[in-house]
Amino acid sequence: MYKEQLETKDLVLKKASINNVNDMYINIWSQEESAKHMLWTPIKNIEEAKDRMKKTIEFQKDKIAYLVYEKNSGQAIGFAGMMEIEDKVYEDSGIAIGTQFVGRGYGKQILIALIDYCFEDLGAVKIVYSCRSENIASMRLQQSCGFHYTHSKPMVDKRNGLNYVLNFYELYRNNNY
Ligand SMILES: CC(C)(COP(=O)(O)OP(=O)(O)OC[C@H]1O[C@@H](n2cnc3c(N)ncnc32)[C@H](O)[C@@H]1OP(=O)(O)O)[C@@H](O)C(=O)NCCC(=O)NCCS
Repeated sequence: MYKEQLETKDLVLKKASINNVNDMYINIWSQEESAKHMLWTPIKNIEEAKDRMKKTIEFQKDKIAYLVYEKNSGQAIGFAGMMEIEDKVYEDSGIAIGTQFVGRGYGKQILIALIDYCFEDLGAVKIVYSCRSENIASMRLQQSCGFHYTHSKPMVDKRNGLNYVLNFYELYRNNNY
């Protein structure tokens, strides 16, 4: 059983609730820019948001998967998670925060909280992070947490058939971040 909640200076990572559907719709799920370098499709109305929230609540059960809440405003501003891909090896399952909330150090707080949880509580030996070659913010985020490049893979975006390159990075326990 994974932790229900992780906390950082400005944020709480906790399980999704139907009460946060408006925040999630406005802050992230309707935002083309937030989805651009990821695998999900933005939604267009609150009914779709309710449906996505129900799926999110189900998805997050028994996973290292959370919504991200800003402590100051109490709003849900994004989502984040990790998954165990091999014994004691964890990979990020996507970190995203709404466009209004980027550039404030939140991404780094989230990634560090997840890294610490995996290494300190779950006994991880390695953490893998991947992002598209053109996703500068994500690339800088992993760099600032001490990850090192390992390899790249050609991929096809199923949403539009376009090619992209996914870069992979790794972090071991004794890297500094
Ligand atoms: C990627 C993402 C989570 C980063 O979150 P963030 O809160 O903006 O990042 P931070 O403010 O913590 O910045 C982390 C580092 O990246 C740098 N950075 C962030 N955005 C940047 C940008 N657009 N250009 C250049 N550097 C950037 C910061 O300067 C900081 O570097 P530092 O620690 O050396 O000072 C956020 O941009 C996002 O949600 N994007 C949309 C979804 C997405 O693409 N997620 C990643 C999928 S792999």
